[in-house]
Amino acid sequence: MKISFAETKLPTSGYLVLLVGGDGVLGASAKSIDKTTKGAISRAIDARSFTGKTGESLAIFAPQGIEKLNILVMGVGAAKDLDTLQAQKVGAQVYKALRGLPATSASVVVEFSRDVKMKNAELATALAAGARLRDYRYDKFLTKAGSKPIPTGPDRLVFTVKAAAVARRAYNEFAAIADGVDFARDLVSEPSNIKSPKWMSAQCRKLTKLGVKVEVLGEAQMKKLGMGSLLSVGQGSVRESQLVIMRWNGGAKNAKTVSLIGKGVTFDTGGISIKPAGGMEDMIWDMGGAGTVIGAMHAIAGRKAKANVIGVVGLVENMPDGNAQRPGDIVTSMSGQTIEVINTDAEGRLVLADALWYTQKRFKPDVMIDFATLTGAIMVALGREYAGLYANDDALAEKIVEAGQTVGEKIWRMPLDETFDKQINTPRADMKNVGPRWGGSITAAQFLQRFISDVPWAHMDIAGVAWSDKELPLMEKGAAGFAVRAMDQFVRENYEN
Ligand code: BES
Ligand code: MN
Ligand code: ZN
Repeated sequence: MKISFAETKLPTSGYLVLLVGGDGVLGASAKSIDKTTKGAISRAIDARSFTGKTGESLAIFAPQGIEKLNILVMGVGAAKDLDTLQAQKVGAQVYKALRGLPATSASVVVEFSRDVKMKNAELATALAAGARLRDYRYDKFLTKAGSKPIPTGPDRLVFTVKAAAVARRAYNEFAAIADGVDFARDLVSEPSNIKSPKWMSAQCRKLTKLGVKVEVLGEAQMKKLGMGSLLSVGQGSVRESQLVIMRWNGGAKNAKTVSLIGKGVTFDTGGISIKPAGGMEDMIWDMGGAGTVIGAMHAIAGRKAKANVIGVVGLVENMPDGNAQRPGDIVTSMSGQTIEVINTDAEGRLVLADALWYTQKRFKPDVMIDFATLTGAIMVALGREYAGLYANDDALAEKIVEAGQTVGEKIWRMPLDETFDKQINTPRADMKNVGPRWGGSITAAQFLQRFISDVPWAHMDIAGVAWSDKELPLMEKGAAGFAVRAMDQFVRENYEN
C-alpha cells in the first residue's frame, strides 16, 4: 500500500474518508460535501444513530450530487483526546474498514479544528502510521487465487491535510521503523523447513544495504572461541549454528554503544527432553528474540539514527538426534563457567550465555539488552499482554518500560533476587540450566545474569508477546515484531544527540 500526503482539494471519485468525533461535529470539507449532496451525510448519520464512537463506521455509496464518490464516515471517539497511540489505532481501523469495501484507493481528510490536542499534520502522520502497521500480512504460501482468508486492503491511501510536507517528513521516518517491524514479522512467520540458522544469517546480511556491517561466525569459529554452551544446543541438528554480529555506527566515535542480543532458536523441539506434539508448531517463532534485534537494527539503520548500536544473534536449531546433547551433560561456556544441562529444552539460556559473554568481551558496550522467547513461565505470570523485563539497573529498566509506553508496547518489570540465583546451583558444575518449578522465568533470568560482569543489562522475556493468537488493534493474528519500535524509541530518547 502506497501512503502519501497532499494539500490538494478533495477527490471527485473513489473513496473519501471523513473522521467524525464523538461530538458529531463535521469538519469544513465534510460540511461542504454534506451541502453538495443535499444533506446525504448528516441524514445517514442520523438514520444510523451514528455517534462517532471509536471504530464505528458508515459507508455512503454514490450520493446524489457526487455520484462517482463513495464516503466512509469513521468514528474517532472524543476527538479532543486523540493522542499518537489512539490516532494510530484509528488509522488501523480506517484501513480495516476500507479493506471490507471494494476500495483500491482512498483519501482521508484530516481537518480537525476545535479542541484537539494534536496538530492536524501530527494526526495525519499517526493515522498513516497505524494504517501502515495494520497493512502487514504473511501470505506468500497462499497459492490459490481467491482463497485469501483476509481481504486485501487499498493500494493507495492519501491523507489530505494542511502542512502535508510536515506530515510526509515525519511519516517517512516512521516508515523506516515500520520496515524494521515488518522485517521482524517476516522472519518470525517463516516456517522452519526454510528458516535454518544459515537462512537467518543470510537475512541479516541484507542489512548491509542499509549501511550495517554484518559478520557471520560459523561453528568452527565459535568452537575456537570456546562457545561450548551455544554449540551444545545445535549439535543435534544437521544445520550449522551461526552467530551474527551487526554494527550500525551512526553516532560519534566516542558516543555510547548500545548492544542488543537475541535468542534465535529457529526451531525448538526441546531436544532429547522433547516437547509434547500439541502446539509444537509454535516453536517456529522461538527465534523471536533474534527477530526483535534484527528488526530493530533494520529500523535504526533505516532511519539513519545518530547512535552506535550493535546487534548480536545466536542462531541454532534444537533437535533430538543421535548426536544431540543429553540431560546430565556438562558443557563449558565461553566465560569458562560450566553448566550441567538438566533439561535440553531450557536451551535459550545456553545460547544467550555465550552470545552475551561474547558481546560484552569483544565490544565492551555501555548497555546490554537481550530478547528471548525464553520461558513458558512468563506467560503464566503476565499472560499474552506484557513482556517481562529483568534488569540489574533501575534507571535502565525505567527507560525501557517508558520507551515501550511511548510506542504502545507493554513491558512489565520482574524481580531478580539472590534467593532465585541460588536455585540454579548444582554440586556437579558451576550451575545447572533449570531451577525448581516455581518462578521459572526468574531463574532463567538469574542464569543469564551469571554471564554479565558489571555492565548495565536488561533481559526481556517475550515468549508471550512475540506472536499473537488473536487480532490486535495494529496487527492481524501472527508475528508482532515486538519491541522493535520500543528499542528504536529507547535509542532515540537516550542515545542520540
Ligand atoms: N522456547 C521455550 C519457551 C516458550 C514456551 C516460548 C512456550 C514460547 C511458548 C523454551 O526454550 C523452553 O522450552 N522453556 C522451558 C524451560 C523449562 C524446561 C525450564 C519452558 O518454559 O517450559
Ligand atoms: Mn526449549
Ligand atoms: Zn526455546
